[in-house]
Amino acid sequence: MAGLRAAFRVKGLDRILGEAEQQKHRLKRVLGPIDLIVFGIGGIIGAGIFALVGTAAAGDAVRLGAGPALVVSFLLTGAACAFAGLCYAEFASLVPISGSAYTYAYATLGELIAWIIGWDLILEYAVGNVAVAVSWSGYFCEFIRGFGYEFPVWLATDLRTALQTPEILAQAPHVFGIPIVFNFPAVFIVMALTAVLVVGIKESARFTAVMVAIKLVVLAFFVIAGLFWVQPENWSPFAPNGWAGIQAGAAVIFFAYIGFDAVSTMAEETRNPSRNLPIGILGSLVICTVIYIIVAAVLTGMVPWNELNTAEPLSVAMRKVGAPNWAGGIIAFGSIVAHTAVLFVFQLGQPRIFYAMSRDGLLPPALSRVHPRFRTPHTATIWCGVVVALASSVASLDEMADLCNIGTLSAFLLVCAGILVLRYRDPDRPRPFRTPFVPVVPILGILACLYLILGLPSTAWIRFAVWFAIGLGLYLAYGLRHSRLRREEAAKEEGKGG
Ligand code: ALA
Repeated sequence: MAGLRAAFRVKGLDRILGEAEQQKHRLKRVLGPIDLIVFGIGGIIGAGIFALVGTAAAGDAVRLGAGPALVVSFLLTGAACAFAGLCYAEFASLVPISGSAYTYAYATLGELIAWIIGWDLILEYAVGNVAVAVSWSGYFCEFIRGFGYEFPVWLATDLRTALQTPEILAQAPHVFGIPIVFNFPAVFIVMALTAVLVVGIKESARFTAVMVAIKLVVLAFFVIAGLFWVQPENWSPFAPNGWAGIQAGAAVIFFAYIGFDAVSTMAEETRNPSRNLPIGILGSLVICTVIYIIVAAVLTGMVPWNELNTAEPLSVAMRKVGAPNWAGGIIAFGSIVAHTAVLFVFQLGQPRIFYAMSRDGLLPPALSRVHPRFRTPHTATIWCGVVVALASSVASLDEMADLCNIGTLSAFLLVCAGILVLRYRDPDRPRPFRTPFVPVVPILGILACLYLILGLPSTAWIRFAVWFAIGLGLYLAYGLRHSRLRREEAAKEEGKGG
């Protein structure tokens, strides 16, 4: 019974802030508002706009396509993210601690919900990165194909595709009769980035800035070149599958927006976080929404919507309109860079969430170790790298993206709910950034997240339910018992008793 009560115990905001201040090895505060916007864009523009946008427009075996109404899907999802982003911004300014939504929930909705959010964030960051790494590998193979080099297919494939394709199994080397197939480029890129991340965050910021500049230039190139090939008749019929298609499209391309919230995981490395975090979160979101809507309009104007279901819709569109090969090459290169930046920001975010959860005793203490020289959470960073690399060696893009979307939407939904709870429970706390029109904006955020969750295929709901059950089991088996808050409060009770 006492355990159950502890599961709903809230960790006060003053206590959270105080603990972060008392850390023996604190993270280095070096990031300003521009760094944060760059990190945000770094995490946002990637596999979503370069790969999944094709599925969103044309649909696939498990969902309808939005058609040219893809721009409406982008608007809808952009609005949902704006509601959630405004709530994130208030929390980030109030609780500038590296655990992001997990920490906000601990302060408002209690330990169990905080754990659930932390568990959901693994879907967002680690599973999302598995999807991005797999997509990175596809573009990488496509890019080197342009130079006449064919990467061995058994060394760049997911398990499901391999099992369904006898030719791949036939080509693969066999060890004791077992065919060896895995996605080597995906593993390689994750491990390489992990090594960079262990070394330090300021260096990481510079690296991300260069990648962000490249991807913005390449998307601008796509839009300007593509405009010459737009044929307005491709925009008609505008919504071939009606609202159902628009909703399904919005749910897929939600993946394209994920990342603005990753800014909040850098709270403890940010100067003046109360002011700079909202700027980073909302600034990157607005910039990317505008870019996405323009790219979607141009893309669906270039080729008929039902020809876009491919892993490389932007390059394919270029090819279909008869653009020279080098134009497709530029897009493929930009896409690789964009994916790399996303991988980088998410591999940076995940360990910081583990760091916060471990500091609270909900995960093993090793995960909150900070490297004495680099001042980065190196143990958590290396663990994340190894696990994401292993998963991306066998996983497939679409399944991982759906799972990532449902997990992230659940976390966003709880963040919006958290704002309502905190305004009620602690109305007078000074808020450097206030979500406007409370309770309307958080309620709209909750409804929008539910609407997008309903647009995902049922396979995603089932996998999410299984994930949720595993998380709950782990919390009961480990987190509940090791929770620092619970142990401290139990010690206090004992002290009183004795
Ligand atoms: N928003 C990120 C991407 O599209 C996850 O790759």
